[in-house]
Amino acid sequence: MTRIDEPSTTPGYDRYLAAKTTVDDRALNSQVLAELRRLMPAGAPRVLEVGAGLGTMVARLLDWGVVGAGEYILLDADRQLLDCSRRWLRDWAAARRARSELLPDGLQLGDLRVRLVHAELGGYLELAHAELADVLIANAVLDLVDVPAVLPGLMRLLVPSGVYWFTINYDGETIFEPGHPLDDQVVGAYHRDMDERIRYGRPAGESRTGRHLFHHLRDARAPALAAGSSDWVVYPAADGTYPADEAYFLRSILRTIRDALRSRPDQVEPADLADWLAVRCRQLAAGELIYIAHQLDFAGRSPG
Ligand SMILES: C[S@@+](CC[C@H](N)C(=O)[O-])C[C@H]1O[C@@H](n2cnc3c(N)ncnc32)[C@H](O)[C@@H]1O
Repeated sequence: MTRIDEPSTTPGYDRYLAAKTTVDDRALNSQVLAELRRLMPAGAPRVLEVGAGLGTMVARLLDWGVVGAGEYILLDADRQLLDCSRRWLRDWAAARRARSELLPDGLQLGDLRVRLVHAELGGYLELAHAELADVLIANAVLDLVDVPAVLPGLMRLLVPSGVYWFTINYDGETIFEPGHPLDDQVVGAYHRDMDERIRYGRPAGESRTGRHLFHHLRDARAPALAAGSSDWVVYPAADGTYPADEAYFLRSILRTIRDALRSRPDQVEPADLADWLAVRCRQLAAGELIYIAHQLDFAGRSPG
């Protein structure tokens, strides 16, 4: 995708996901979030987050008071990342002087029991699950999977009329500023790479996931109750510095484009790609690079 995510085996992926946190904080659509708050079951719900990565979303939702008690399951195909997430969440809690305790299969964060599940989503959906979730979350994930194939199974992981919140779904528009004559070619080639990608032996995402989700959710009898844009907008301050670790985030994005297109010289000439990357890296170092990726968020209920 051009809302670009590194393959998870890349060294530094945990730092990339941590650096993405402040970008996502700004991007998440506030009206869709308000709908999630309205739909959120009272008490101690069971929340399942698929493709949870480092666990930054559970930390955010605790910070924002959206979750507090109950169970929160982090499911991811990357075991190394789940191991990192245990430590990252413990350190996050310690920095807030919040109560936390490491457990064999996760950790306790205050009144919230966080459980780590190592599984590939497609395989996980093929199993029967006795314990259904009240709330299902996927952040920056559905554009990495074959949505029409997995969505019915995802809905079956929820209790009837359970709540879903699917956020940061890439939607086919990427802008770098200042403009460069090769931008359209590079971004177009990246979209093609995303549309043809195979991971875990399955088709893995497409470049217009966001807009297509309106139809896929309707087809799954779970039309969106709220939808809105959640664009990533990354830009330097007046003094040329980027907030938090967002310069690293941008470097990761450029690296991901490089890695995807290096193996596709038919799409972009290697010399052209090298020139384009050199210009973008210089602009990043000079605090001049601006990056915008269009994405969409959705909230709704599973079929009753
Ligand atoms: C872009 S990261 C997003 C992580 C996290 N949701 C966030 O926003 O920080 C995508 C995550 O989905 C996981 N993932 C991708 N495809 C998956 C699959 N088929 N099954 C399970 N996890 C998957 C990756 O390992 C990675 O951690």
